[in-house]
Amino acid sequence: MRRTISIKLLLLVCFYFSLGINGLISKQNEPIPVVMFHGMGDTAYGSIIVIKKVLESEIPNIYVTSIRNGNNVEEDFISGFIGNLNDQVSSACEIIRNDPKLQSGYNSIGFSQGGQILRAIAQRCPNPPMRNLISLGGQHQGVYGLPHCFGDTNQTNYLCNLVRQYIRLGAYTPAIQNMVVQAEFWHDPLKEKEYQANSIFLADINNERQPRNQSYKDNLLQLKNLVLVKFTKETIVEPKESEWFEFYKPGQANEIVPLRQSPIYTEDWLGLKQLDQSGRLKLLAIDGDHLRFNMTWFRAQIVKKFLL
Ligand SMILES: *[C@@H]1O[C@H](CO)[C@@H](O)[C@H](O)[C@H]1NC(C)=O
Ligand SMILES: *[C@@H]1O[C@H](CO)[C@@H](O)[C@H](O)[C@H]1NC(C)=O
Ligand SMILES: *[C@@H]1O[C@H](CO)[C@@H](O)[C@H](O)[C@H]1NC(C)=O
Repeated sequence: MRRTISIKLLLLVCFYFSLGINGLISKQNEPIPVVMFHGMGDTAYGSIIVIKKVLESEIPNIYVTSIRNGNNVEEDFISGFIGNLNDQVSSACEIIRNDPKLQSGYNSIGFSQGGQILRAIAQRCPNPPMRNLISLGGQHQGVYGLPHCFGDTNQTNYLCNLVRQYIRLGAYTPAIQNMVVQAEFWHDPLKEKEYQANSIFLADINNERQPRNQSYKDNLLQLKNLVLVKFTKETIVEPKESEWFEFYKPGQANEIVPLRQSPIYTEDWLGLKQLDQSGRLKLLAIDGDHLRFNMTWFRAQIVKKFLL
C-alpha cells in the first residue's frame, strides 16, 4: 500500500518535473523576438514589413514587432520629421517594457534614423535587455546636410523641405530642437561646441557632455553585438561615415576622422572601444545607396549571424 502510494507520488513528481524540463527546453528553443524601428518617410508597418516577413519565414515561431509612434499611421509617418526624439524614446521604452513577449530580451533592427533611436533605447532602458542591435544606415554621429529624403512622395518632400527651412533658421535653438527630428541629430562640425551644448538628443546619447553618464556606457556594453551597416554609395546620409560612428574633424566639413582615432572611441566614454576589443562591434559595408540591400545579403550576414 505504502509502496504504491510512493510509486504514484514518484510518478507524479516525475510528471511535473518533466513538464518543468520541457517548459524550460521549449523556452530555450523559442527564438529571440525582434523589435524594428522605422526611419524617416516610412511607418512601423510600411515598407519595412518585407523584413518582418523574411524573419518570420526564416525563423519559425519568431515574434517580430515594429514600434509605431503616435496613435495612427499618419502620426507615425509625421513622427519621422516632427517631434521630440526623447519623448519618442520614452514611449518606445514603455511599449517594449509592457510587451509580455519581450520580457526575456530581444534583438533589434533600426532602419536609418531608427538605428540611433534604438541605441538610445538600449542606453536608457536596459530592461528588458536588448541583445543585438542591428543598425542599417543609422546616423550615429548625426547628419550635416539633407541632400534628399528617403521615400520620394509629395508628402515626404513637403515635410523634408519644412525640416530644411527650420534647420536653416537655427538648428540649435530650443524651439527647433524640441520639434524637428533631424535638428535633434544635426551635427554641425563648424559649431561643435554649440552642438555639444544644445543638441537635446544626439549629443546626449553620445555622452558628449560633462559629467559623462556612466549608465549609458554600462548599458551599451550589455549588448551582445553592435552591428553598424554603412552604405558606401549614400545619397541620403551626409556624411555616410556617420553610419560607422565616424564624423568630420571639428572646424571643417571635408576630413573624416577614422573611428579608432576619434575621441569618443579613444577616451571610450560610450563603450565603443570596449565593444570593439571584445569583438562585439561589427562594422559592415554595403556597396549601394541608402537601405539598398538584398535579401541574400540580409539572410547570410544578419539573420544567420545575429538573429538565429
Ligand atoms: C543617465 O541617463 C539616465 C537615462 O536617461 C538618467 O536617468 C540619469 O539621470 C542620467 N544620469 C546622469 C548622471 O546624468
Ligand atoms: C505631386 O506634386 C506634383 C507637383 O507639385 C503634382 O503635379 C502631382 O500631382 C503631385 N502628386 C500627387 C500624388 O499628389
Ligand atoms: C546582394 O548584395 C550583396 C552585398 O551588397 C552583393 O554582393 C550581391 O551581389 C547581391 N546579390 C544580388 C543577387 O543582387
